[in-house]
Amino acid sequence: MGTLQFIRRGQTVALANVPPDRTLLQVLREDLGHTGTKEGCGEGDCGACTVAVGEAVDGRLQIRAINACICLAHSIAGKALWTAEDLAQDPLLRPQDAPAGSLHPVQQALVQHHGSQCGFCTPGFVMSLFALYQNEVCQGRGVERERAVQDLSGNLCRCTGYRPILDAAQHMGALPRWQVDEAAVLQKMELLAQSSQAPEPDLAYMAPGTLAELLAARSAHPQAQLVAGCTDAGLWVTKQHRQFAQVLDVTRVAELCRIEETAEHTAIGAAVRLHDAFAALVRRRPQLQTFAARFAGLPVRNAGTLGGNVANGSPIGDSMPLLIALRARVVLASPRGTRELPLEELYTGYRQNVLAPDEVLAHILVPHPAPGEFLRAYKVSKRQDDDISAVCLVLNLHLEGGRVQAASIGAGGVAAVPARARQAEAALQGQPWSAAAARRAAEALQAQFTPLSDMRASSQYRSALLASLLQRFWLESQGTANASLATLDLEALA
Ligand SMILES: Cc1cc2nc3c(=O)[nH]c(=O)nc-3n(C[C@H](O)[C@H](O)[C@H](O)COP(=O)(O)OP(=O)(O)OC[C@H]3O[C@@H](n4cnc5c(N)ncnc54)[C@H](O)[C@@H]3O)c2cc1C
Ligand code: FES
Ligand code: FES
Repeated sequence: MGTLQFIRRGQTVALANVPPDRTLLQVLREDLGHTGTKEGCGEGDCGACTVAVGEAVDGRLQIRAINACICLAHSIAGKALWTAEDLAQDPLLRPQDAPAGSLHPVQQALVQHHGSQCGFCTPGFVMSLFALYQNEVCQGRGVERERAVQDLSGNLCRCTGYRPILDAAQHMGALPRWQVDEAAVLQKMELLAQSSQAPEPDLAYMAPGTLAELLAARSAHPQAQLVAGCTDAGLWVTKQHRQFAQVLDVTRVAELCRIEETAEHTAIGAAVRLHDAFAALVRRRPQLQTFAARFAGLPVRNAGTLGGNVANGSPIGDSMPLLIALRARVVLASPRGTRELPLEELYTGYRQNVLAPDEVLAHILVPHPAPGEFLRAYKVSKRQDDDISAVCLVLNLHLEGGRVQAASIGAGGVAAVPARARQAEAALQGQPWSAAAARRAAEALQAQFTPLSDMRASSQYRSALLASLLQRFWLESQGTANASLATLDLEALA
């Protein structure tokens, strides 16, 4: 097992014999004895374990909040780490003239605005706010309340309530500035990279840097657990107690971390983080912003990848109905070459797909919007933030002269796989776009899908939702429904 090295408090931390499936939270709390980072749910839901990770991206330091509980420790090798315990102690952060015992402005603002009661959630809030502080306040920008709500979407507090915490977020910028010394951190990471070239590659936790290396490793070690951001796979460790003797991490593969624009499509590498992938989709289709912000919470979107969501193939995953409606195609790569197919053809059954044992998902190709496109994405879940869909329905029409030239509809939560709503598409194809056509499409949707009942929703409710979302889509196309209400709460409808 290779030695895990990363930068913390301006120093290199080196830990020998860290198993490939040890989580970052276990390393912090159990191996280092630093229990300031808390464990609540152990599944990425509560944010008590939030830490900030810094990595070099295009010569700049990018700092993001992630959940330590579902993050494999080796994934932060060579990066910089901050926990709530580090902020007041990091010499690359703490101003030299700060009096002894002073708190970071984020912590100070929480104190001043009474943002903590029992305090269990507080280290996690501090770290989400720290990332926000670095990315906004330290770049000379203020923090709007709505932005703070977004950035704290992965942190739950059960006693203080959110108003004082949001007040702290809005006021932390008014306190004397503490800013990470970006150049110094980058330099330390560079020195670490140079000094940690191991003579023998670590075969327990493999993190290749190129697609060719990834494919070679996949062929040579077919039993290794392929992982990306671990926001699904991490739960198999923490909740199902699965053990990964060998891990193959795709998130350092340069080709898979890129977003490329061509004349026809946006090519999103499978290892592009969800946050960045959705940002690219929103640049082309701004109406997707609300939908994008409702995918998990920010720490999960900062760690999880678009390719992981698609490859995992959960029937209640959110990006697949969207990508199906956008007529996205996937590129699969193996040592034998690449092949391309429509996204919906990736799935063969419940969490089953056509990927061969030596194949990986390499890219997702999303066509650019064409003139006349009318697109809406609806997610219905029990909670507004950080929740999985009961039903996800994405509708995309190409309208010309009031007629449907093409319809593509993706649906989640209503079948064993994320599915294309072919019957509703056929009912709309070539028809005048009218209330009657929308009704026929709704009937076709209900005829095609027989959803299951589970803890999220009953079969009847899901089926009724399909029809009411189509009706909503019709109204929005006529400008008669408030487009800003493009998301619904189950409770509001029940
Ligand atoms: C708190 C929480 C909230 C969530 N909310 C949502 C939500 O609102 N909507 C939603 O859709 N999902 C949600 N998820 C699920 C999760 O975030 C996504 O499925 C995520 O996109 C998975 O990506 P990852 O990079 O973390 O994949 P990982 O967990 O690393 O891997 C998942 C699977 O994909 C495979 N895989 C990964 N990359 C590749 C590749 N390039 N080629 C082949 N196989 C690959 C892995 O082998 C593994 O089987 C949530 C998860 C959590 C913990
Ligand atoms: S412990 Fe709840 S998100 Fe990690
Ligand atoms: S202060 Fe108690 S859970 Fe937030």
